[in-house]
Amino acid sequence: MEKSEKIANDIISRRGIYYQAFGIYKEISGFYDYGPIGLRIRRNIENTWRRFFLGELNALEVETTLILPEIVLKASGHLATFTDPIIDCTVCKASHRADKLLEEFYEKKGDTKAFSAVKRMKIPELEKEISSSGVKCPKCGSKLSKIESFNLMFKTQIGPGSSENGYLRPETAQGIFVDFKNLFRVYGLRLPVCISQAGKVFRNEISPRQQLSRMREFGQMETELFFDPGAELEEFNGIWFDTFAKAEITFMESNSDEARERRIGELLDLGIIPNRHLALLIYLEDKLMAKMGLSKETYRFRQVEKEELPHYSQGNIDLEAKTEYGWMEVAGNASRSDFDLSQHAKLSGEELGVVLDGKRILPHVAEASIGIDRLLLAILHNSAVDGSERGWSYLKLNENISPYHFAIFPLQKDEKLMDKAREVYSLLNERNLSSYYSETGGIGKRYARADEIGVLSCITIDYQTLEDDTVTIRDRDTTKQIRKKIGEIF
Ligand code: GAP
Repeated sequence: MEKSEKIANDIISRRGIYYQAFGIYKEISGFYDYGPIGLRIRRNIENTWRRFFLGELNALEVETTLILPEIVLKASGHLATFTDPIIDCTVCKASHRADKLLEEFYEKKGDTKAFSAVKRMKIPELEKEISSSGVKCPKCGSKLSKIESFNLMFKTQIGPGSSENGYLRPETAQGIFVDFKNLFRVYGLRLPVCISQAGKVFRNEISPRQQLSRMREFGQMETELFFDPGAELEEFNGIWFDTFAKAEITFMESNSDEARERRIGELLDLGIIPNRHLALLIYLEDKLMAKMGLSKETYRFRQVEKEELPHYSQGNIDLEAKTEYGWMEVAGNASRSDFDLSQHAKLSGEELGVVLDGKRILPHVAEASIGIDRLLLAILHNSAVDGSERGWSYLKLNENISPYHFAIFPLQKDEKLMDKAREVYSLLNERNLSSYYSETGGIGKRYARADEIGVLSCITIDYQTLEDDTVTIRDRDTTKQIRKKIGEIF
């Protein structure tokens, strides 16, 4: 049997779900375009997050700018610290990410201990390790340069001939922090409250690779939960602490390489999950993965080591999913404390605290930051089914993620059947049931093409339809067909 990831990759490329951008010119790695099917899947992922995650949290969603002035990123710490270690080849001049180079070296050797130690290394240790292990340029085998810090942000100039530096945003979160004061006042908010944003972010990755896993332009779905650090969370929008404390998640501690089922309450008691607000986000993220169609054994939560933490974080519990490239971080869940608000307050000179019972406090923040494209890759890699029995493989996407609920086919190219099929197509679209119409190719071929991209059901219009208004509905997973009146489809 073929592996799910391999089948998925084949479907991704044959059906143009996504592909490298600028294809007719010289490709630049790290940039991908989505075709019509991929775009529908991607939008469905975003809408599933919106419905089930933001819905449960009663979150407010905003859309802030993609370009940020330098001062915002100075405050957020990105200007000074959003860097990766870069190393160049002294001969072919290719640039590489030093830590990834070393990780790949140890992975090839099968040295898992040395592999995980790389995450904790700073530039001087990386340099020592690269020189002592004899790692060379993977492109030409030559000697490597010294390691330097490389800032991942794309820089631009705001206005013609202007001295105002701007940057493409490296995370959607900063727009939320900058707008917090205004939103709090205008919307009469109370703590705790969630503000969310989905959109594109930009990182000038040193060595983009592995399809959608390390891109230079990608999507995030972020939620910032603002709370009073002095108030213990008992209930949030009808979700009780007792309920989520009892829930179990698949969890891997920082000092372990094995994941097992752990109660959220136990992880809180041990101080592994830093606070109840972050625990709530993790609880809902776990539920969200089921809505996305990921089964329990395909993802896990991982406690991030201290040395790996982003500059703003006091503790991270990341969500990782299985892909062709091993376990991959799909979401970063961070305890951001009051880091961002206090920094923005300092640099803007604005008061960003809120008054609670006559006292002014600076809210703390728990964040759930989900990467849309990595999640899409994980969903596709875990949903492909080997179709030796039916003759073709297919993506077993659930009803939230599938690009279309129905494919509508006239049995053959007969004007009467085609007219009726178009009528059914319009009826479904009017009722917001996503569908597409196709009349080309034999019916078996059309079933295969629909299954392949994960369409849930195919509706065929035949001569009996013209007599009694019934159609055949074929289920993707069982391939069973039933006959139904058109009015009973919806
Ligand atoms: N606001 C927090 C933040 O940005 P992050 O861990 O840097 O946290 C969140 O990013 C998520 O964005 C990651 O878990 C991952 O899914 C996605 N992501 C990060 N870098 C990426 C890249 N170069 N390509 C694709 N997705 C990426």
